[in-house]
Amino acid sequence: MENFIIVIPMICFYLIFPISKTIAETDTITHFQSLSKSQTLVSKNGEFELGFFTLDNSTNHYYLGIWYKKIPGQTIVWVANREKPATNPNFVLLIINNTTMNSLLLSHNNNNVLWSVSVPRKLKNPVLQLLDSGNLVLREQNNDDENEEKNYVWQSFDYPGDTLLPGMKLGKDLRTGFVRRLTAWKNKKDPSPGTFNWEMDVTKWPEPMQRIGSMKQFSSGPWIGVDYGSKITREGERFFKYVYFSNEDEVYFAFQLDNNSVPMRMALDQATYRRLYLVWIDSDQQWLLYNLLPRVFCERYGVCGPNSNCDWNKSACDCLRGFRPNRAGSCLRDKPLNCKTDGFVKYVKMKVPDTSNCLYLNQSTNLVECRDKCLRNCSCVAYANSDIRGEGKGCALWFGDLNDLRTLPDAGQDLYIRVPASEIETNATLTDHSKEEQEEDPEVPYYDLSVIASSTENFSHENKLGEGGFGSVFKGTLENGQRIAVKRLSSGSGQGIKEFKNEIALIAKLQHPKGLLYLHQDSRHRVIHRDLKASNVLLDDEMNPKISDFGLARILGGDQTTEITQCVVGTYGYIAPEYAIDGNFSVKSDVFSFGVLLLEIVSGKKNRGDQRQNENTNLIEQAWNLWIEGRPLDLINEDLKESSNSSEALRCIHISFLCLQQHPHDRPNMSFVIMMLDSEIGLPQPKQPALFVGEYSSLNKSNLLSVNELSMSILEAR
Ligand SMILES: *[C@@H]1O[C@H](CO)[C@@H](O)[C@H](O)[C@H]1NC(C)=O
Ligand SMILES: *[C@@H]1O[C@H](CO)[C@@H](O)[C@H](O)[C@H]1NC(C)=O
Ligand SMILES: *[C@@H]1O[C@H](CO)[C@@H](O)[C@H](O)[C@H]1NC(C)=O
Ligand SMILES: *[C@@H]1O[C@H](CO)[C@@H](O)[C@H](O)[C@H]1NC(C)=O
Ligand SMILES: *[C@@H]1O[C@H](CO)[C@@H](O)[C@H](O)[C@H]1NC(C)=O
Ligand SMILES: *[C@@H]1O[C@H](CO)[C@@H](O)[C@H](O)[C@H]1NC(C)=O
Ligand SMILES: *[C@@H]1O[C@H](CO)[C@@H](O)[C@H](O)[C@H]1NC(C)=O
Ligand SMILES: *[C@@H]1O[C@H](CO)[C@@H](O)[C@H](O)[C@H]1NC(C)=O
Ligand SMILES: *[C@@H]1O[C@H](CO)[C@@H](O)[C@H](O)[C@H]1NC(C)=O
Ligand SMILES: *[C@@H]1O[C@H](CO)[C@@H](O)[C@H](O)[C@H]1NC(C)=O
Ligand SMILES: *[C@@H]1O[C@H](CO)[C@@H](O)[C@H](O)[C@H]1NC(C)=O
Ligand SMILES: *[C@@H]1O[C@H](CO)[C@@H](O)[C@H](O)[C@H]1NC(C)=O
Repeated sequence: MENFIIVIPMICFYLIFPISKTIAETDTITHFQSLSKSQTLVSKNGEFELGFFTLDNSTNHYYLGIWYKKIPGQTIVWVANREKPATNPNFVLLIINNTTMNSLLLSHNNNNVLWSVSVPRKLKNPVLQLLDSGNLVLREQNNDDENEEKNYVWQSFDYPGDTLLPGMKLGKDLRTGFVRRLTAWKNKKDPSPGTFNWEMDVTKWPEPMQRIGSMKQFSSGPWIGVDYGSKITREGERFFKYVYFSNEDEVYFAFQLDNNSVPMRMALDQATYRRLYLVWIDSDQQWLLYNLLPRVFCERYGVCGPNSNCDWNKSACDCLRGFRPNRAGSCLRDKPLNCKTDGFVKYVKMKVPDTSNCLYLNQSTNLVECRDKCLRNCSCVAYANSDIRGEGKGCALWFGDLNDLRTLPDAGQDLYIRVPASEIETNATLTDHSKEEQEEDPEVPYYDLSVIASSTENFSHENKLGEGGFGSVFKGTLENGQRIAVKRLSSGSGQGIKEFKNEIALIAKLQHPKGLLYLHQDSRHRVIHRDLKASNVLLDDEMNPKISDFGLARILGGDQTTEITQCVVGTYGYIAPEYAIDGNFSVKSDVFSFGVLLLEIVSGKKNRGDQRQNENTNLIEQAWNLWIEGRPLDLINEDLKESSNSSEALRCIHISFLCLQQHPHDRPNMSFVIMMLDSEIGLPQPKQPALFVGEYSSLNKSNLLSVNELSMSILEAR
């Protein structure tokens, strides 16, 4: 009974009460207690902590917030006074009881209110409690179950900041109109609301929508009974599930972890305008970026314009059947609809159009009835089931322009688009490109499968040379004695027939010694490899290196030096920053990869290979640190030290920094690289290389670098 604290209620007199324990040991504060700068509340099992923090010591701005208690680095998940930081340390958080209501008040000595919450319900003995879910709740202090949401008169989960935690709702209370939405922080040092936000559009068929200001940026589509239309994680890797709830009172979306032992959060990042999925990896002691949205070209809202479909596999736009592009690329109706005779064409694996101009019939309407309803209304342009479970049920009808359509690689649903009778030919679905794919390329010789099988002893294990992301490679011998390598596309691989054919066509056309210089400058086609890495360099009997794996290669027109793609593919650790960030690739992005490769050869280490031992250091950073510390030769692999010539090794390191420059134009071209390697000409001083982009530093490569997003390149001689 030695601790006393002073509570200053709104009414102007002082009360002094004894408290039994110090605030720091509890998960609650009551009406008679306060929380000041040096105190925190800790949830019962120690998962989360509420307290004051600063983001920038120099400015002395204090915020009240919640962070993970067990995770180092104070990851803030919620901020009370987002917009109004305390500017001096004399502030307290109080529960106020006056004659009409309870309030939570964060203020400077009770006169400058930084943040306040008023609850219309009057509590006898209010208590503020931090739960292990990260939710801060205000409730009556009695035996009511603290986990029962109905007992909360106020909860922080209703006022999300930039972070969605498991169990938090994103949605709308239809009775009160109250919206629970996420808004990004303005920047890392300022938690006040930025322009990037995410909320549920509930006017028609509810659809979660990410926006920049009021501009739509990304939608995963509406809930279709099993999931969101656009599936965003790969099957089998999921350790969380989405929850969707909808009735007359409320519509919301949330997520739940299948395994509570893995902390996970979704956060909006204003710097990249992406929704980030972050998972805490205990063994690495860091947050792993598990996914991010939007991720690829087709996911950008309305990227193709109205009445056009974005084909995920091709990363390209196609006007819907019945529409034709004009000069500006807008899709306009080709022939007018004729209400009486129109029919429908079916698109498969679709994310349905933006639901803001749909009529949503959540009933036990089946597809036949749905089609009927659409046919009967002349302005209905498309229909689909709203719930794809089982045979499919429910019905959504669209009117006017169809926006934000895309095909999805491994999810989605059937969508029926209205077309004039003349457009209906066969029952073939429109995304079936099998005919096109069967056309043979005259430059590529074809072998019968039986020839390949017998040359590799039926793809025997003994003949297997290695295995890549797309399949296995076997050695073989043709009947005439010629030795061959056979790549067998695995059915489970992400490489489609098109990428495979692209690779084959390229290899066939490039009759080459196969060096990068040749690809960039000497071949008939200017080729950018896009996936240069150690495992794509093969060594023959005589240790001659050959570049392989042209699955991702791209050919540029003769005069063209850069191309921009929205689908960044390549391999983590080797991608140039401009390519990773904006999809800009050029011969200079291959030069960057070459720089990484060179460092790897000298050091015998893989870039990001030893992440576990040294989480924050990548090879480039490590090399550069040694360089500026004046001991670059420490980088050289122990096994190479004796046999190598240190002045040559030093030169390699030096040249690799030139290749690894942040700006593509600061990097040498391949012919200059070779000249520098081959001669003893003086080398320019390197500027600090690109130490790789922080935002992407924890990207899970298999997710980011999904090869499904590939587009096909067209070969043109230059
Ligand atoms: C603020 O200062 C403390 C102690 O000097 C330090 O540990 C902390 O990292 C600093 N925080 C920031 C955001 O600079
Ligand atoms: C009670 O507190 C609320 C919120 O702070 C305030 O608006 C109201 O005026 C107060 N009522 C009285 C009687 O002080
Ligand atoms: C809060 O106010 C109500 C009514 O004014 C009163 O009955 C109750 O005892 C007060 N509670 C505390 C803890 O002072
Ligand atoms: C849950 O996580 C723990 C610890 O990471 C792990 O041992 C366990 O296998 C996981 N369980 C499931 C079902 O994934
Ligand atoms: C349709 O309504 C039923 C019953 O109200 C509800 O359970 C279901 O979640 C709703 N479906 C959608 C997709 O909103
Ligand atoms: C067709 O549907 C639209 C949108 O629901 C509605 O406004 C219009 O009245 C309907 N037309 C007919 C002829 O039913
Ligand atoms: C078209 O319909 C016929 C007969 O129903 C069926 O045999 C055929 O497989 C269908 N073709 C396609 C491409 O779906
Ligand atoms: C390969 O398989 C075929 C058919 O199963 C068989 O006839 C042949 O003997 C096999 N060849 C070898 C080398 O295993
Ligand atoms: C896209 O590619 C995947 C795998 O390569 C294939 O399964 C799918 O059918 C393709 N989708 C379309 C619309 O072409
Ligand atoms: C990518 O190219 C565009 C257009 O040339 C340019 O504006 C942008 O700055 C480039 N991005 C990077 C990261 O270099
Ligand atoms: C190392 O290489 C340089 C340049 O190729 C050469 O001048 C020098 O003699 C070599 N040193 C040794 C010890 O071989
Ligand atoms: C490569 O770079 C060198 C030096 O900057 C320049 O002289 C040469 O013209 C470039 N070659 C090509 C093909 O761009």
